[in-house]
Amino acid sequence: MKVISFINPKGGTGKTTSVINVATCLVNSGYKVAVVDTDPQMSLTNWNKNDKANFDVYTASSEKDVYQVRKDLSGYDLTVIDGAGSLSVITSAAIMVSDLVIIPVSPSPLDFSASSSVAAVLEAQAYSRKVEAKYLITRKIDNAAMLTLLKDSIDETGLGRFKTALTNRQTYVKTCVDGNTVFDTKDGAAKGEVEVLTKEIIDSLM
Ligand SMILES: Nc1ncnc2c1ncn2[C@@H]1O[C@H](COP(=O)(O)OP(=O)(O)OP(=O)(O)O)[C@@H](O)[C@H]1O
Ligand SMILES: [Mg+2]
Repeated sequence: MKVISFINPKGGTGKTTSVINVATCLVNSGYKVAVVDTDPQMSLTNWNKNDKANFDVYTASSEKDVYQVRKDLSGYDLTVIDGAGSLSVITSAAIMVSDLVIIPVSPSPLDFSASSSVAAVLEAQAYSRKVEAKYLITRKIDNAAMLTLLKDSIDETGLGRFKTALTNRQTYVKTCVDGNTVFDTKDGAAKGEVEVLTKEIIDSLM
């Protein structure tokens, strides 16, 4: 079992939206997937209130639950952790148990600056076990200057970056509201980018 977490202590960077769609795609690709909601606001658990998810959802109420995922969820192929929108003990725990940390950032300078605290935890963690971490651009808009700035800032950190970004699309917003994913829609562009990203994520774990 491998653990992937989506972490950025800045709120609203697209963590939950990315988790929901990527986890659904992982199940569609044949993996047995558990998703752990570590956000005290429980957005992902609420999204799944009608139990439509094709993966199993667990809610972590404290960092203790997070530290135990490797043992408790060992029956799954993959565990995906939806991080909280704050830097808390639960965030550090999620990083510690992860094989791959994905840092979603939208083209907003604030999203990027908050992610430096993730880098600090990763650096501390590297003394016992190095964790791979990669940035994921979310809510991508057609603003070449802003994108170049964001990519340059990411590349300066020395951490990786997924080639595939998730574009700013209403399909992500609308589907989240009614417990669906882009795979319940006819939006081929949205489904396509989630599929290519998911493949990149799987490749990063190999
Ligand atoms: N690719 C996208 N295109 C358009 N809107 C998006 C996209 N990704 C996320 N959003 C919207 O941005 C808002 C924040 O997204 P989301 O809840 O996924 O972020 P988060 O990082 O999980 O936030 P929090 O830190 O509060 O948990 C939501 O309204 C969501 O619908
Ligand atoms: Mg969230």
